[in-house]
Amino acid sequence: MKRNFLLLILLLAMPTIILAACGGSSAAQSASNQEPVSEQAEPAQAPAGDPAAGRELFIATCAACHGPAGQGVPGLGKDMTNSEFIAGLTDDELVEFIKMGRDPSDLLNTTGVAMPPKGGNPALSDQDLYDITAYIRSLQK
Ligand code: HEC
Repeated sequence: MKRNFLLLILLLAMPTIILAACGGSSAAQSASNQEPVSEQAEPAQAPAGDPAAGRELFIATCAACHGPAGQGVPGLGKDMTNSEFIAGLTDDELVEFIKMGRDPSDLLNTTGVAMPPKGGNPALSDQDLYDITAYIRSLQK
């Protein structure tokens, strides 16, 4: 079953791979005929989070529900220190998750309590969320 699924992913990804290959060669052609094309933009790098700044922000916004060390508060936020969900996400994905939150109507919600978008603090910038993410990583057991 798992192998079939992987195969499916591979098949679905095939056109993309082929397109990418063709795109690459045509870019090379045009480069040889014309002025050198400007380098393709590097994929945006995730800003590096600062865990010390993240700790301040976490304590101000998230600790009410998750506890200052992310251990969770019964009936409010979940324990983060042993979260497989968090461990399985990249920093980018974790930042996206924090932006969205997790409503009780979300199938992944396990507590029936809302995780509000940005922890209910819309003032948090992307950099703030990367800082918070870095702090959360430092809490993980
Ligand atoms: C009002 C309370 C509240 C606040 C404030 C809050 N959260 Fe949450 N958070 C929750 C609840 C409740 C859940 C669990 C939802 C569920 O049942 O899946 C949760 C879940 C999470 C999860 C997923 C954990 C897992 O293992 O599934 C992450 C990550 C998270 N919160 C990050 C944050 C961050 C970062 C902040 C601050 C910016 C924050 N939360 C602020 C209530 C809160």
